Amino acid sequence: MRTPIIAGNWKLFKKSGEAVELVSQLTHLVRDTKGVEIIIAPVFTVLSTVKPLIANSNIKLAAQNCFWEEEGAFTGEISPGMLMDAGCTHVIIGHSERRQYFGETDDKVNRKIKAAISSGLTVLFCIGETLAEREANCTFNVLRTQIEQGLSELAKSDLAKAVIAYEPVWAIGTGKTATDDQAQEAHAFIRGVVADLYDHTSAESIRILYGGSVKPENVKELMAQPDIDGALVGGASLKADSFAAIVNYLV
Ligand code: G3H
Repeated sequence: MRTPIIAGNWKLFKKSGEAVELVSQLTHLVRDTKGVEIIIAPVFTVLSTVKPLIANSNIKLAAQNCFWEEEGAFTGEISPGMLMDAGCTHVIIGHSERRQYFGETDDKVNRKIKAAISSGLTVLFCIGETLAEREANCTFNVLRTQIEQGLSELAKSDLAKAVIAYEPVWAIGTGKTATDDQAQEAHAFIRGVVADLYDHTSAESIRILYGGSVKPENVKELMAQPDIDGALVGGASLKADSFAAIVNYLV
């Protein structure tokens, strides 16, 4: 059985006061939730502010990015060990916004994934096709390449520390969710690629999240798909009631 994950990616939102307010409301709203792993990914500057607020809760802490070197003359970067030190257990790597706006290539994503996992973090590894790629019928080729290169040199045992997030770029922040069938088709394909690269057991164990305009109104149908193991939520994670409604999709 794969435990579902609902992760909130706050992106570039929430200063400390707003973060405290959101987390205080959220811990209350999800305190009785069982059977779902809950993760929030605030901006770096509030990780240490949020950490004590979730210390006795069922919420885990993620960062939105990291560098692959542990320390050195790399101005502006942050290392996996520093994220662990700030209380993170997870890190998002390869989000499409980083690929699109910050020149993050599959090779850089791979280096970050390897460094994060070897430091003890669990990686939420994002992949997904653009609208142009989908319209050109390249979706599966794009996904296969991103997975092969992103997971390159990762041992089978490392996969226990990896979660894949399928986020079709055309569905992010647009209000356009992939249909349940489109999402399921992509997730089944991704699981197949993991089976090709590793084995059937690894493919059956790895969790694959869907991301792209997930809301309280559509989460239940998405989560009913056999290969969808959770959601990476952007906009709807910025309000405690909507994120809690997504987390509590079973209720
Ligand atoms: O990481 C989250 C995704 O980019 C989805 O964002 O829920 O605002 O579409 P969204």
